Amino acid sequence: MLVYLDGKFLPADQAQISIWDGGYLHGDGVYTTLRVYAGNPVELPAHWERLTLQARALEIPLDLSLETLGGIVAELVARNGLAEGDGRLRVTVSRGAPPDGSLPLTGLDRIRPTVLVTLVPVPDAIAAWQREGIGAVVLGPAYRRSHFPELKTLNGLTTVLALRQAARAGCREALLTTARGRLLEGAVSNLFLVRDGRLLTPAARGGFLPGLTRRRVLELARGLGTPAREASLYRRDLQEADEVFCASSVREILPVVRIDREPVGAGRPGPVTRTLQAAYRAAMVPPQQA
Ligand SMILES: Cc1ncc(COP(=O)(O)O)c(C=O)c1O
Repeated sequence: MLVYLDGKFLPADQAQISIWDGGYLHGDGVYTTLRVYAGNPVELPAHWERLTLQARALEIPLDLSLETLGGIVAELVARNGLAEGDGRLRVTVSRGAPPDGSLPLTGLDRIRPTVLVTLVPVPDAIAAWQREGIGAVVLGPAYRRSHFPELKTLNGLTTVLALRQAARAGCREALLTTARGRLLEGAVSNLFLVRDGRLLTPAARGGFLPGLTRRRVLELARGLGTPAREASLYRRDLQEADEVFCASSVREILPVVRIDREPVGAGRPGPVTRTLQAAYRAAMVPPQQA
């Protein structure tokens, strides 16, 4: 498996990052992940734009054009044999290493960031989760991404701990809440509820990452004539929901059929979720490849 690291394509086991890199030492960096459908990175311009803006928010002098990134992805697709099938692309941009190993507080524009791009096959398990649905746990505010939650930073500790809690309960996602029980997002996705044929998603008020898939799902729902809106949603709304699903670029749309051991609605993927899954796939994969 080849990876791209700072201008070079290397076998993954030969790629090395400095022990002084602020990404490793302090989580000082940002990343994005997306799906590559038979060689086509979906929404690459939107992911690149988000990554660029988020790097700027951390004062990381990222010099990576969309064209350059597109070329890197094409090379990885070809060299990693992913021209068919689906790949998971991750672009990670970290602070880089100041030569003296100090904690860089000023002169940030003089430190060259580390840029790592990896492309691996999407795990087979995700297709089964999409078909059959997943279980989720609801976690309290300790697990929410409290600091700069609208950024995809390398500070992934709360995410990792939340997913481990979910895995211990036999679940694939954790739903994150505020101290008052207001629903925010999944540990690695955005959350949607269906009630009486209407689609609801937590309102983005700066407390979480409103992802690109969320935006696309809202557009698709409106195009299909399904009323869709943002709302303040609480734990009890999960109990009253007919359907629940999570959405992200790599996992796409995952029906949530069980929350904290209780079935959601009928306990199987519901019709609105199924319709949106099909519409999302159709929007992502050109017809000749579908
Ligand atoms: C915390 C969090 N929220 C939402 C999302 C969904 O974002 P996107 O649809 O842009 O992939 C992700 C994706 O990884 C995430 O990690």
